[in-house]
Amino acid sequence: MRIIRTRDYKELSSAAADVIASQIIAKPDSVLGLATGTSPIGIYDELAERYDKGELDFGWVKSVNLDEYMGLSADNENSYRHFMNTHLFDRINIDKVNTHIPDGMTKDPAKEAASYDRMIQSLGGIDLQLLGIGRNGHIGFNEPSDHFEKCTHEVRLTESTIEANSRLFKSLSDVPTHAITMGIGAIMMARRILLIASGPDKAGILKEALFGNITPKVPASILQLHPDLIVVGDKEALPDVGSDDTYLRFTEKTA
Ligand code: F6R
Repeated sequence: MRIIRTRDYKELSSAAADVIASQIIAKPDSVLGLATGTSPIGIYDELAERYDKGELDFGWVKSVNLDEYMGLSADNENSYRHFMNTHLFDRINIDKVNTHIPDGMTKDPAKEAASYDRMIQSLGGIDLQLLGIGRNGHIGFNEPSDHFEKCTHEVRLTESTIEANSRLFKSLSDVPTHAITMGIGAIMMARRILLIASGPDKAGILKEALFGNITPKVPASILQLHPDLIVVGDKEALPDVGSDDTYLRFTEKTA
């Protein structure tokens, strides 16, 4: 596990964008696993800026997103498809045909889930998966559970996730109660994983996930077993890592 601690969110976004940019430069037809939420917004801004400057070409890139709310269509402003179009896809030269997000309007979630996994396989798997972490330790919408769910599946969101995500909706009752999410299997099979976390709200759960027991009660804890995990967090999210305020890059060995 490699940990990069940054001074603030802006530096986090730039350091994480460096990881994604180097992936695209090394392999222009990379399959990127992408995330939504507040954490990656600065990264997507950085990537769009670098595209504007001619530093990055997304013409061959393919993407697969982690999740989508059930019952929200692509044109709903709270859907993750809408989020991705607005924050990234409409600002770069990615071919939208090559961008994949589970269909939240499906009448048959089990069928949609199975075909999403087949689609990821047909792309040759994920080269680099970007992840945020939920306050309860979820990755994608893999909520705390008594087992790690391997495949893409429909999930009932926990009260804490619904509450955390309600900030983006008009009211709590507008937040969908279900989502469809990539499973832990496809995430762990990604060749590289980039986990980001910002702010004091994430400090406790991040520490538990990176240094605590590996348990499905903290889904992100399984990332300790990934052979190529990069964590980029700001100092509020990683208060205990390192001993000074400087921009730290170091390798932490997992037990
Ligand atoms: C988003 C996703 C979630 C978020 C997590 C953190 O596609 O899968 O796991 O990464 O809920 O969200 P923020 O970044 O809003 O704190």
